[in-house]
Amino acid sequence: MAQPVSLTRYLVEQHRKHGHITSELRLLIEVVARACKRIAISVNKGALGEVLGSAGSENVQGEVQKKLDIISNEVLIEANEWGGHLAAMASEEMDSIHVVPNRYPQGEFLLLFDPLDGSSNIDVNVSIGTIFSVLRKVNNQRGVSEEDFLQPGKQQAAAGYCVYGPQTTLVLTVGDGVAMFTLDRETGSFVLTDEDVSIPEDTKEFAINMSNMRHWAPPVTRYIDECLAGKEGSRGKDFNMRWVASMVADVHRILTRGGVFLYPWDRREPNKPGKLRLMYEANPMAFLIEQAGGAATNGERRIMDIVPTALHERVAVMLGSKNEVERVTRYHVEAQ
Ligand code: AHG
Ligand code: MN
Ligand code: MN
Ligand code: MN
Repeated sequence: MAQPVSLTRYLVEQHRKHGHITSELRLLIEVVARACKRIAISVNKGALGEVLGSAGSENVQGEVQKKLDIISNEVLIEANEWGGHLAAMASEEMDSIHVVPNRYPQGEFLLLFDPLDGSSNIDVNVSIGTIFSVLRKVNNQRGVSEEDFLQPGKQQAAAGYCVYGPQTTLVLTVGDGVAMFTLDRETGSFVLTDEDVSIPEDTKEFAINMSNMRHWAPPVTRYIDECLAGKEGSRGKDFNMRWVASMVADVHRILTRGGVFLYPWDRREPNKPGKLRLMYEANPMAFLIEQAGGAATNGERRIMDIVPTALHERVAVMLGSKNEVERVTRYHVEAQ
């Protein structure tokens, strides 16, 4: 029987294959994976670890923080700040960037994360996750500022997520396709269980929070109405719907069997482009989805082409099976 391939071995082989995956980037990914294992332990303990419920504080986005949002943020920072591979970190749960303290060497990478995605599912024992994105610090002067982070998603060096579900699975791209690693709880290592993940171009499954229907813009209503019309409608096929309300879980399903995920702009907050965060959620997921042959837009343009103007910038998100994303994007363009 073939030897199982660990995350470490996968990264070493990627390093040999592509010069641009430096040992620094390998270390970074291994450290993030280790942090995810620690978060998985807290998640698995649940009520026994006193990690459920609210922390009684709010983050910069105005969301109530759960205890696990804060614990996961701390685990990621503590794991990453001393290794010498990073210059700074940014997180959904921190107002401003966390610069690596002077007592440690500064590396060339910037790490961005949504430490705990799917907060509303923590207390109900439904899949949640951690999303991360890696950028290079472009200017190599000393010091680092928020501006260094404001790079379009196409400049990501790596991205991924770890889903804490029935299995703990790490999903990763370093720009050479998408690989999935399942955590073997007995050995404590992430083992390669899927390589060259690929999303079918067509699908019969969509994911959207239907309770916001009355607030949508006409192109989204047009697209979903056609899906709902099923075989009898213009699409000529029945669609199924899924909405976990954890982006990691919804994207994981799409990477596994196809589908389309929409979190569009809506009238509830007319001045915000959408709910999801460009830097911590949309960009890393867009990188994974494109690497698996899918597409990701904000309804008008490719997500990874957007040049951010603020760290916590929001964006509308449409991603997944290519033909569906192209269709809903076309509906937006036609409505302009
Ligand atoms: P987070 O828990 O990191 O704040 O993100 C939650 C996001 C995303 O995971 C999910 O797709 C979406 O919010 C769900 O939103 P609704 O509750 O509005 O459906
Ligand atoms: Mn949140
Ligand atoms: Mn999130
Ligand atoms: Mn979050």
